[in-house]
Amino acid sequence: MCGIVGVVSDKDINEKLYNGLANLEYRGYDSVGMCFINGSGIDIKKGVGKLHEVNSKINFLGMPGKVGLGHCRWSTHGGVTEENAHPHIDCTSRISVVHNGIIENYSELKEELEKKGHKFCSQTDTEVIAHLIEESMKDGKIEDAVITALNKIEGSYALGVLYSEEPDKLIGARNESPLILGIGENENFIASDVPSILSYTNKIIYLEDKEIAVLTKDNFKVLDLNGNVKTKEIHLINWSAEAAEKGGYEHFMLKEIHEQPVAIANTLNERLRKGEVKFEKEFGLSDDYLKKIKRIVIVACGTSWHAGLVGKFMLEELAKIPTDVEYASEFRYRHPLLDKDTLVIAISQSGETADTLAALKEAKKLGAMTLAVCNVMGSSITRISDGVIYTRAGPEIGVASTKAFTTQLCVLYLLTILLSKLRNTLSQEQINGMITGIRKIPLQLQSVLDEDDEILKCAELYYKKPNSLYLGRGVNFPIALEGALKLKEVSYIHAEGYPAAEMKHGPIALIDNSMPVVFIAPQDIYTYKKVLGNIEEVKARGGIIISVVTEGDAEIPKKSEHTIFIPKTMYTLSSILSVVPLQLLAYHIAVKLGRDVDRPRNLAKSVVVE
Ligand code: F6R
Repeated sequence: MCGIVGVVSDKDINEKLYNGLANLEYRGYDSVGMCFINGSGIDIKKGVGKLHEVNSKINFLGMPGKVGLGHCRWSTHGGVTEENAHPHIDCTSRISVVHNGIIENYSELKEELEKKGHKFCSQTDTEVIAHLIEESMKDGKIEDAVITALNKIEGSYALGVLYSEEPDKLIGARNESPLILGIGENENFIASDVPSILSYTNKIIYLEDKEIAVLTKDNFKVLDLNGNVKTKEIHLINWSAEAAEKGGYEHFMLKEIHEQPVAIANTLNERLRKGEVKFEKEFGLSDDYLKKIKRIVIVACGTSWHAGLVGKFMLEELAKIPTDVEYASEFRYRHPLLDKDTLVIAISQSGETADTLAALKEAKKLGAMTLAVCNVMGSSITRISDGVIYTRAGPEIGVASTKAFTTQLCVLYLLTILLSKLRNTLSQEQINGMITGIRKIPLQLQSVLDEDDEILKCAELYYKKPNSLYLGRGVNFPIALEGALKLKEVSYIHAEGYPAAEMKHGPIALIDNSMPVVFIAPQDIYTYKKVLGNIEEVKARGGIIISVVTEGDAEIPKKSEHTIFIPKTMYTLSSILSVVPLQLLAYHIAVKLGRDVDRPRNLAKSVVVE
């Protein structure tokens, strides 16, 4: 889970590598390094810490060079030390390598290489690749040696390689870790993601697994691991580089929370027709198939898994399709029962989460049809699924997912409308009501954002509390889980999400007058009255009650220390509005505690390792 950027150009590139890494730091930020080809060899500088901290000591921006690689690390093999930071080199210091992924057979390879006299300087799996390429170097070209080396490697990799004897070449390769090529004017790029190079080019090529790319400043070729040349399509990206910048907000997380009304409007755009929903051609699943589905299984991780739990409510209650929601990491290792009448939906912001990708592959192997709900065009998950619905949240850089989550909920809601119509589980009048409901969401969400002052007040009062509980029922139980996750990950405060009624089966023992309890309790016909009872139970034990309720609610505010109001909407849509105050609460508490909100400790944006 590291970030890679590489450039081959006719001009100095240190600023491009630096800016590229600054945009990739969400992928890993425990150490950082760069290398450049110079007249006589390869210059390498690296250190422990974030990019700007290391740069202030060793000045990456002062390194001249027209061909180079940069890497930000999230450690897997070997501790966080300067020796373990990338780039890594071979014994002759002529080959340098940066890597994202895990080489599974690295200890066997290392043992063999050591027997042949190779000397290792780090504890990483990556260094094995540099020595393996050196060992494979006959009289041929660097790409031949890389291919020979990669044929011996098991595991996942996105790689950047430089060889000082062929100073005009930049090599990239991928297997199960993301790597793209950027095609520029008299310069070409490799990178872990699109936003990191979007200021320099919007012409992108997606590498497939087991492909290697050989780039010079004015040319590129892509080969498979047998050395055959592959034809690749160049995609034009229509995100702007500015969209990936902070735009005046103190943090990406805050910017992305505030972008939700627009992100949702974009996600709905042109998909809502008169009385129906229509997806683009990437959706790929026929009406006939959709009418026949017997079951849906949703696989995802983290916040995307919470979106799946809300999706289950929508799909079962409205489209009447039995739906299971599984952690991708569990699904892939237990023997799920699937067949062609089961639709497996993978939800992922990044489209690169290793467990979700593996679960999807397992589902395909077992004969199920697959659909990706994803935010990143051309990502691995979208390329192996039978169909894709894109969330159009734009680049999400803050490590804590916010706008990706609410746009995932919108997509699941649109899919529910489509299925309900095709399968005649709702009348046209009900469908029209659902469409009217979701059309209002961007404006309604803006009014929730306008309540930020009250949310900030809660944060100021309670940011020192070491624990908190988040309780909700029905469609707002997953929102309780999501609120607790947001708080944990950005503030490092322990928080638990629970179904409100389960509280009395254990967690109620935790409640005293120092425990904030956040109730997510919009009005509904199912459980509102029961939640009111749960609030009384907490109040009787001295708990501090913060509630998220529907505008006009006169009951719950009387029992709460703080109340945040959300506009009236349909039951299933209330989850999209009620999560926003919880995102803001987590954000403000983290800022008050001085946390690194966009790059919380130990986390990375895309978890591309198991
Ligand atoms: C939490 C968060 C993570 C991700 C999870 C899955 O804020 O961002 O829990 O939701 O790692 O990531 P994707 O959606 O990229 O598959």
